[in-house]
Amino acid sequence: MEHNGFTLWFTGLSGAGKTTLARGAEAILRERGMKGEVLDGDIIRQNLSKGLGFSKEDRDANIKRIGFVCKLLTRNGVVAVGSAISPYRAVRDFVRQEIGNFVEVYVKCPLDILIERDVKGLYKKALSGEIKNFTGSSDPYEEPLNPEVVVDTSLERPEESIAKIIARLEELEYVPPAPQGEVYSAEELKAVEGRLHELGYI
Ligand code: ADX
Repeated sequence: MEHNGFTLWFTGLSGAGKTTLARGAEAILRERGMKGEVLDGDIIRQNLSKGLGFSKEDRDANIKRIGFVCKLLTRNGVVAVGSAISPYRAVRDFVRQEIGNFVEVYVKCPLDILIERDVKGLYKKALSGEIKNFTGSSDPYEEPLNPEVVVDTSLERPEESIAKIIARLEELEYVPPAPQGEVYSAEELKAVEGRLHELGYI
């Protein structure tokens, strides 16, 4: 079956910016005429993974479920955008093998910055012991060894990280180049900024 779907997988600590970048990248892909669907850990845990907790077993089950849906979308020509902490390397690699067309984006941000930002107030709770097994502070995060893209949200603005991701997708020939040979057309930049605005980032 001819298809040009792929999975764009965002991994990284809570609050690093996975959702923002996933939604921003999706906006650009839509501008380029591709169909995209974001599968976000926080949302998946309210339906498909309802009832799962944060043990290694439950996290791996969550990632396998998200990966499974990504596989179905990918083989039907959709761009599946996975966004979950996905702290364990082995299950990320399992999902990569299952899907084939897989692009891993490591959304990096130093822990001290995340603690300072603490958008959801969860690091505070983790540090006081109110939340146990919190990724990055009291639970492991295994960094990707060979991700296709690394972005650092403590150093880059969201627009810059998104541009980096799209450029890499063009290089890997998953995404057709922008009309003018630039990373963003003016229209695309508008679409990204609109999306970031919706999310309350700018
Ligand atoms: S994953 O580990 O299974 O990939 P997922 O991305 O779905 O995690 O969900 C992470 C979100 O759950 C975090 O952004 C945070 O809002 C919330 N959360 C609640 N408890 C924890 C915890 N112990 N560790 C990490 N995130 C947690």
